Amino acid sequence: MRINARLKKIGDLVEANSFCLDVGCDHALLDIYLVKQKKDIKTIASDIAEGPLEQAKKNIKRERLENEIETRLGDGLDTYSEEINTVIISGMGGKSIIGILKRNPKVLKKIDTLILSPNNYQEDVKRYCCKNKFFIQNEEFVRDKNFIYQIIILKKGKKKYTRKEYFFGPVFIKKKGPLFREYYEREKKSREILLTLLPKNFYYKRWTTKNEIKMIEKEIED
Ligand SMILES: C[S@@+](CC[C@H](N)C(=O)[O-])C[C@H]1O[C@@H](n2cnc3c(N)ncnc32)[C@H](O)[C@@H]1O
Repeated sequence: MRINARLKKIGDLVEANSFCLDVGCDHALLDIYLVKQKKDIKTIASDIAEGPLEQAKKNIKRERLENEIETRLGDGLDTYSEEINTVIISGMGGKSIIGILKRNPKVLKKIDTLILSPNNYQEDVKRYCCKNKFFIQNEEFVRDKNFIYQIIILKKGKKKYTRKEYFFGPVFIKKKGPLFREYYEREKKSREILLTLLPKNFYYKRWTTKNEIKMIEKEIED
């Protein structure tokens, strides 16, 4: 089965011998990729909706992986069980991801590794996780078609970050590279467009947006 560049990159970042819960698995293409990699990864494909989970089951059956990949119907971390050490949530908005983590604080405490790929509000996701005893171990960009996605790997532990590190990502800002520049060029453009649309009396939002543009310009010029 064909897997897109985004899901492949997420799959490649999962450590050997992990026991994963893929929350919002949809088609389960990631789970299929994970077990086929032969890195001794176990995974449970879970989704809140019956339709996607039925599709996941069909795909898993087509690949003859019914004995390898369990499917579970349920909301977010409700499908967690003790053997799981890694939770993957990708392809959702940042606010939805935070909502899923917030609804199950007891489960969140038990997880060693979070692999998150929010479509937006990435900074909020990082802040929420770091407030809840995770640190950012790695950050990766991946280009898929016309988009550049962030993948964030968080591990249990505490680290303090500056505002700039939260904004750009503490690992991204050290690594930089061409995708970093392209990603933040786009972020700069979207803020410039926002400035043309914001009413003149939105002083605070205009001020923070201008500051962010300056911050971005400084980092991508370096
Ligand atoms: C856009 S798809 C993303 C699929 C896949 N994770 C990816 O990255 O391509 C979002 C999936 O998340 C599921 N979903 C949304 N909210 C959820 C929740 N609270 N718990 C579990 N699954 C959820 C949806 O039913 C849908 O199948």
